[in-house]
Amino acid sequence: MSKLWGGRFAGETDLLVHEFNASLPFDRRLAAEDIRGSVAWARALVGAGVLTAVEAGTIVAGLAQVQTEFERGTFVFEAGDEDIHTAVERRLTEIVGEVGGKLHTGRSRNDQVATDFRLWVMKAIDQLQEYLADLQNALVESAAANLNLPMPGYTHLQHAQPVTWGHWGLSHFWPLVRDGERLAQVRGRTAVLPLGSGALAGTAYPVDREWLARELGFTAVSQNSLDAVSDRDFAADFLYAAAMIGLHLSRLAEQLVLFSSAEFGFVRLDDGYSTGSSLMPQKKNPDTLELTRGKAGRLVGHLTGLLTTLKGLPSSYDKDLQEDKEPVFDAFDTLRLTVPVMAGLIRTLTLRPERMAAQLEPGLLATDLADYLVKRGVPFRQAHHLVGQVVQLAEQKGVNLTELTVAELQTVSDLFGEDVTAVFHITSSLSNRNITGGTSPEALANQLAAARTAVAREP
Ligand code: ARG
Repeated sequence: MSKLWGGRFAGETDLLVHEFNASLPFDRRLAAEDIRGSVAWARALVGAGVLTAVEAGTIVAGLAQVQTEFERGTFVFEAGDEDIHTAVERRLTEIVGEVGGKLHTGRSRNDQVATDFRLWVMKAIDQLQEYLADLQNALVESAAANLNLPMPGYTHLQHAQPVTWGHWGLSHFWPLVRDGERLAQVRGRTAVLPLGSGALAGTAYPVDREWLARELGFTAVSQNSLDAVSDRDFAADFLYAAAMIGLHLSRLAEQLVLFSSAEFGFVRLDDGYSTGSSLMPQKKNPDTLELTRGKAGRLVGHLTGLLTTLKGLPSSYDKDLQEDKEPVFDAFDTLRLTVPVMAGLIRTLTLRPERMAAQLEPGLLATDLADYLVKRGVPFRQAHHLVGQVVQLAEQKGVNLTELTVAELQTVSDLFGEDVTAVFHITSSLSNRNITGGTSPEALANQLAAARTAVAREP
């Protein structure tokens, strides 16, 4: 097998070592970026006086043919190809002849791979942003359709205070807005051009790196060649952003698993988004949600895996860095399915308001009862204690909080009056929280409007 770097070697690479060393099985996904980077590099070499315009024209045309072969699926890899960079260059030279060998002047696979990979991550982020925006829209639509539908709210998974479907739905929307912002920030940090750094010390030819950056869609040029070939912060940033998306979706999924159970029954999953059991004919399983929950583990694993790889590496390129690509590719592939599947599941979800209503028990209003006493001058801590006694009284009598008579309430505090019954409505509990971020119809309308603005905003 002939190698690009074969000159100083007398012996052949061990076959297992070739397989061990090769990144082609996964980095072939960088083909388009590799070719794009090479086209720009060829042009930059003209500016630097290394290539004539004719030579660069030949190389660029050859690269265009290589690109076409990739697009048509006719590109043939050879046994000696070690990674995508060597494969493209080998094929280019087959097509254009010896002049192809001039392309790599002043360049190393070290700055080349960093450039290709950054371009790939930038493109992946743009795609993810679209999926994310669609899921955000699905949650906003679901919230808008039942903005004021009351449901129990939980802390510690115990009945706490009333909320609404809209409020709950949007509680899973805002984290996704932050995810979009995070991805945009990652993109900004990724768009720094390493090309021109050479192997580690910078290139010896006067290429215009600013031009290269603009040509390839980067917004800045790296300032230190050693750092530029070793920096994989952008990959770790991407994996963190991906893990956070996975984590947010996992929490949403877990809650929907609960809500779709027989015990809750707040929602029904569409047939298209659930699966059956091979043994129990009655089963409708939330596999989609469980997989979403499970894949969060995989995404977190990719982040910790890469961080561990990077830890302790001396600056400049080390082959450990080849381990950067698979976790990033897999994180993208995971989200490329998970996010749109979740959007579809949300869009086809059926709500069961009657099941939510059945759980709106008066205990959810205990805080409102305490607030009633606070309005009559009782310090909150004391009001909390008194309502605790009211709850005990109701338990002793085997009735609901709202079934106690005013006379019975007055055995706990004479501040309870006839008007206390006004407290005992879910809707008044909701509308009393008329504050930004609260549950009143007005607050929810404002929140929904803010959500719509956030979706429409470019991240
Ligand atoms: N396949 C390598 C990678 O993905 C490309 C860079 C190789 N550089 C080197 N000096 N061997 O990291």
